[in-house]
Amino acid sequence: MTVRIAPSLLSADFARLADEIGDVQRAGADLLHLDIMDGVFVPNLTFGPLVVARIAPVTDLPLDAHLMVRDPDPLIGPLAEAGVARLAVHVETCVHLHRTLTSIRQAGMSPGLTLNPATAVTTLAEAVAWSDFVLVMSVNPGFGGQRFIPESLDKIRRVRQLVGPDLDIAVDGGVDPDNAGALVEHGATTLIAGSSVFGRSDRSAAVTELRTRALAGA
Ligand code: DX5
Ligand code: ZN
Repeated sequence: MTVRIAPSLLSADFARLADEIGDVQRAGADLLHLDIMDGVFVPNLTFGPLVVARIAPVTDLPLDAHLMVRDPDPLIGPLAEAGVARLAVHVETCVHLHRTLTSIRQAGMSPGLTLNPATAVTTLAEAVAWSDFVLVMSVNPGFGGQRFIPESLDKIRRVRQLVGPDLDIAVDGGVDPDNAGALVEHGATTLIAGSSVFGRSDRSAAVTELRTRALAGA
């Protein structure tokens, strides 16, 4: 079994981005998670394609962007240009999910579907056919360092039932070494972790511990 660890840059020191990214790359991270927030869909504002374009050349890690914006479609082209490899949109923000997901793929990125904690698993039923992964939010999006919502575990199990054995399921929010094993046992294959990686001074130990505990089970 493989588990991918995706440190979330939201918890990094934004004044030292290149150093922080180099640190998690050397620590053995598999992806770099980028939280793009508009201050409207979520109560926080981060960065957009211009910053992503400056990040891309300083890392070999695939860029895993998580779009928390009210209007995702205009950002698809610019984020593809900026070097994003995977782009997750929230089902709550997309009226025309088929169009949005196929546009992401046509732009050369892997499309993913994100569910807020209170959004039903059944909303995936049709659109999962056009997606390469599902991102289950285990906190309400907007901020790092929040507490994991325990009901997310059973939700991941139900997403796994719905999507079958092969699709990547990422989990985002409050992921730490203590819940990593249970998350993987319930069906998660990518662990996104902000404060439990960037909040520790030894990023190598943080990534290794997450991976070891994830593979060891609950
Ligand atoms: C929250 C973001 C997350 C955030 C996770 O809206 O989507 O990616 O960085 O941070 P932690 O791991 O600290 O909960
Ligand atoms: Zn995220």
